Amino acid sequence: MFQHSPLVRSSHFSPPESTDTHGMKQDSVVRIAAVGDLHCSFISPEFLRTVCDEMKERADVVVLCGDLTHHGNPEEANTLLECLQIFSCPVLAVLGNHDHEHGKADIIRQILEEAGIIILDGTSHTINGVDFIGVKGFGGGFGDYALQPWGEAIMKEFVQETQQEARKFEAALRQSTNTHRVAILHYSPIRETVEGEAKEIIPFLGSSMFEEALMHYPVNVVFHGHAHHGKMEGRTSNHIPVWNVAMPLLHRTNPAMLPFFVHTLKLATPIDHHET
Ligand SMILES: [Fe+2]
Ligand SMILES: [Fe+2]
Repeated sequence: MFQHSPLVRSSHFSPPESTDTHGMKQDSVVRIAAVGDLHCSFISPEFLRTVCDEMKERADVVVLCGDLTHHGNPEEANTLLECLQIFSCPVLAVLGNHDHEHGKADIIRQILEEAGIIILDGTSHTINGVDFIGVKGFGGGFGDYALQPWGEAIMKEFVQETQQEARKFEAALRQSTNTHRVAILHYSPIRETVEGEAKEIIPFLGSSMFEEALMHYPVNVVFHGHAHHGKMEGRTSNHIPVWNVAMPLLHRTNPAMLPFFVHTLKLATPIDHHET
């Protein structure tokens, strides 16, 4: 799907409202380059290297929203690492469901962490006064149709996994003390950015429990992946911008651009979760 296509010419995909750095001092903004679902090595390492080369020029911080590997093999993590090692700026990541496929998520995490990648798992990391709070997340569905912990034990276990991830996320948000906060997930916290996927799989793409945490503890912006056929942009009920940065979605949205997303966080602007 992601061979190095001649259609891929240059630059990143970024809508106008997120790129207005003109006239602003460099130290008044943090440029966050975000992408999820790199699926190394299903997506070719050569292509990923091209993407990373361009991201390097555009980013103060790189954010990776899970599914870093395709089969969850440590070999894939090592291959990805060869692409990521060009970054001199901080690289933060959450793992995704694919990174768990072979039961070796801990090894993948260790490989990446030993190379300096910051893996967030219900934890936060501060860069230039901005707290980056990340968790993998899980499914369960949205709103009135969310799965409930009721009936068979296995159904309860499924929901308990979501609850556990949401509790980790909320605890990290609660402990965050900086004025500027960025949330990173693999699964979506809202239904809006998974719209476009088959209705049958929507409950497996995210959960409103993560939105509830964001209602209590707002952030400036949320990035997630996982929904390859979803929609790029949405908002939580309290109007926090949510960006689905799954690489296949970015690629499909604008095949002429390299598939990553740049959000310019203006440090002079406090969290405004009521903006429309
Ligand atoms: Fe994915
Ligand atoms: Fe995924």
